[in-house]
Amino acid sequence: MRTTLIAACLLAATALQAQTKIELGQDKVLMHHGDNAEWKSPTLNESGWGTSNLVGNEITQRDTWAWYRIHFYLPKSIINSSDIQKELVFSLGKMDDVDMTYLNGELIGKTGSLKTDPKGYSTAWDVTRIYRVPLNSKALKWDSDNVLAIRIYNGDGNGGLCGAPFYAWVPGLIDNMDIKAKYAQIKGREFASFTLTNSGLKIQKGKLEYQYMDPDNGKIIKTTKSSVTIGKKSSKVINLAVDESNPCRIRLVYSNGHATKAGTYVPILTPREPETPLLNTVGRYGLRPGSPLYYKIPTTGVRPIRFTVTNMPEGLKLDAENGILSGSVKTPGEYVLNIKAENAKGSDQKQMTIVVGQKIALTPPMGWNSWNCWGLSVSQEKVKSSAQAIIDKGLADYGYAYINIDDAWEAAKRNADGTISPNEKFPDMKGLGEWLHSHGLKFGIYSSPGRVTCGNYLGSLNHEKQDAETYNSWGIDYLKYDWCSYGEVYNQEHDATVGAFIRPYLKMEQYLRAQPRDIFYSLCQYGMADSWRWAEFVDANSWRTTGDITDSWRSLYDIGFVQQRKLYPYGQPGHWNDPDMLIVGKVGWSANLRDTRLTYDEQYTHISLWALLAANMLIGCDVSQMDEFTKRLLCNREVIAVNQDILGKQAKPVVTDGKIEIWMRPLADGSHAIGIFNLGGEDKMVNLSSYYSAMGISAPKGIRDLWRQKDLSTTDTSYFIPTHGVKMLKLK
Ligand code: GLA
Repeated sequence: MRTTLIAACLLAATALQAQTKIELGQDKVLMHHGDNAEWKSPTLNESGWGTSNLVGNEITQRDTWAWYRIHFYLPKSIINSSDIQKELVFSLGKMDDVDMTYLNGELIGKTGSLKTDPKGYSTAWDVTRIYRVPLNSKALKWDSDNVLAIRIYNGDGNGGLCGAPFYAWVPGLIDNMDIKAKYAQIKGREFASFTLTNSGLKIQKGKLEYQYMDPDNGKIIKTTKSSVTIGKKSSKVINLAVDESNPCRIRLVYSNGHATKAGTYVPILTPREPETPLLNTVGRYGLRPGSPLYYKIPTTGVRPIRFTVTNMPEGLKLDAENGILSGSVKTPGEYVLNIKAENAKGSDQKQMTIVVGQKIALTPPMGWNSWNCWGLSVSQEKVKSSAQAIIDKGLADYGYAYINIDDAWEAAKRNADGTISPNEKFPDMKGLGEWLHSHGLKFGIYSSPGRVTCGNYLGSLNHEKQDAETYNSWGIDYLKYDWCSYGEVYNQEHDATVGAFIRPYLKMEQYLRAQPRDIFYSLCQYGMADSWRWAEFVDANSWRTTGDITDSWRSLYDIGFVQQRKLYPYGQPGHWNDPDMLIVGKVGWSANLRDTRLTYDEQYTHISLWALLAANMLIGCDVSQMDEFTKRLLCNREVIAVNQDILGKQAKPVVTDGKIEIWMRPLADGSHAIGIFNLGGEDKMVNLSSYYSAMGISAPKGIRDLWRQKDLSTTDTSYFIPTHGVKMLKLK
C-alpha cells in the first residue's frame, strides 16, 4: 500500500511539472492553402484539412495565403506554476512572412505588414512570434480544448510556419533563472560545473535537488538536496566532482515552490585513449597518378612512436618518426600498405589501400574551416593557430587533416596580369601551404564563380584558369566554390534549365583537374537545382545541400534531419552530400567567439548524425581554445570510423515513431551503424528490439555502444534517450 502511494505521488509530481510549459503542435498541425475568415473559428469542421509540421515552409507560391490550426488542452493548474499569474504567453517560432494569429477566434497577435496595410508589405520571416494573453481574457478556455488558428501571408520565396518548438506558459519569477552545466577541469581534477544565473531584479530562493543518473538507462542512482539563494542579477557556480571512468548524468533541479527549472550535466562519453599506439588510418585513400601525397598517419598513443610501412609503391616515402607519408605514385593501381606503429607500451598494425586512379576523397574529408569561428575576421595567424592545435591537441591523430581558409583572404584588386593575391592578413600563402604539408596536413581555400564572394571579396569570374593555377602554386588541396554573386550572371543568361546552374562549376572543374595535384572540389550553392543529382557530373567531391548552418537546435534539426532525409542515394566514395560544417566548440562567425549554443546532448546528436550521413567533418571552432569535452566529442575513433567507412553509404531514416527517429547505414564489414534520435522535448526510453522488423533486420548478434566503446546486451535493448539526444550503436 505504502509503495503504491509513493509511486502515485511521484506520478502526480511529474505530471504537475510537465504542465508548467505546454508544447504545442507536437502531435498534429492542420494546414489549408488559401484564405477564408471562417477558418479562425474554434468550431470549424476541419475535414478536408491536410497536416503540416512546424518547420514546413510549405507555401511555395509567392503572394498567396495558408492557414494552420493547432489544438491543445489548457489545464487551469498551469496558473499555479507561476508566482506572478498575469498572462499566458505563446512562443510560436518564426513565420514567413506575415501572420495573424487567433486563439479560439480572437486575434492575439500580428507580425509583419500586408500590402493593404498603411505602410505596405514588409516581411517578418526572421522574427520569433511571442504573443501574450491576459489570464482573465475570454479567449482562454480553461480545462478544455483550445484552437490556435494562424493565417499566414507569403510575399516571396517559400513561406509558412518555419520554427519549432511552439510553447505556451504562464511566466513567473522562475523564468529569470537559468541553469547551465559543463565539464570542467580544475587543478587536474574533473567536475560537473553548474552555473545558476538569476537575471531578474528579485532574489531567487529555493531548493536544489541533484539527481545522479545512469546515462544508459536513465535510472536515478542517487539524489541529494540543499537550498540556495541567488541575489538579483547575479549567478552562482556549483562544482561537483565527477569520476570520468564511471560517467553519470547529473540533473540539477531548482524549485521555488511554484515551478522548477533544471539543467543537466552530460558526461564525456568517449573513453580516454590508451597509451599503446592505435592506428586511425582510412581504409582506402584515392590519389591521382603523379599528384603529391601528404598524409600524416593518424595514430594515438604516447610518443615517441616509430612507424614502419611495407609494400609501399615506388615514389612514396615515410618519415618514420613523425609518421608522415609523402611523394607521388606514377602507375595507376591499388597498393595495399602494411602500416605498423610501435612505442614503449606496445604496437598496432593496419592495412591501408592507396588507390591510384582518377578518384580522390574515397572517404569524406576531415579537417577544419575558418568560417563558423572567425567569419570575415580570419587571418593567417588564426588559421595557423588552429592548425597547430589540431596537431598539439591530437586531433590530427584521428584524421583531421584539411585546414581550410574560408572567405576574406582575397586582396581588393587583382594584379596587373589578372592574377589574384591574398590581402594583408595573409602575408605568405605559399609558406603557409608548405608549413601545413610539412606536418602532413592539407591546405584549403575558398572562392566564388561570381564577381565577388558572399563576403564581398573578389571572386573568380573570368579568371577561373588563372585562379586554379595560382592555387596550384600555393599548394592548395581543397577549393570551396561558393555561388554568391554568380546570381548576377545567372539572371542575365535567362536560362531556366539546370545547365545554368551546372555551367560555372563545370568551368572551374576543367581547370582544377588540369592541375598536377589533387584538389578536393567542394560545391557550395546551397543545393539549388537539386545539386546532388548532377554534382558528380562536374566531378564535385562534395556539394552543400542546404543554406548555412548555425549553432541552434532549429538549424541542426532542419538541416540535419529534415533536409537530408532523401539524399542517401547520392553520397558515394569520391562524392559526398555536405550538410555544412560543424557547430561545436567556440564559434561566432566573427572576431567574437562564444561557446556553441547547442546543449551537450544536441552536440552528440550532431556528430553522430554527421558520421551516419557520411558528411564532411569540418570543424568550425577555434581549435586553440577547444575544451576537453569538445575534443573527446570530435575524437571518438569508433564514431569516426562510421563516417570514414569505405562502403560510403549514407544513412537513411528507417523508423519515425512520433519524435523518435532511427537512421541506419550499412558498413563495409556487413554490420550496420544506427542512431536512435529523440527529437522531442522530453527524455524517452526506447526499446530497440521493437523496431527490428520496421528496420528490416533480424535481432543482431552483437550491439556496440559507439560513444562508450563498449558491447551491450542483445537481450535488454531499452535505452534512455534524452531530449534532443542520441544513442549511436553498431549492430552486428
Ligand atoms: C556563404 C557560405 C558560407 C561561407 C560564407 C562566406 O554564406 O554558405 O559557408 O562560406 O558564404 O562568405
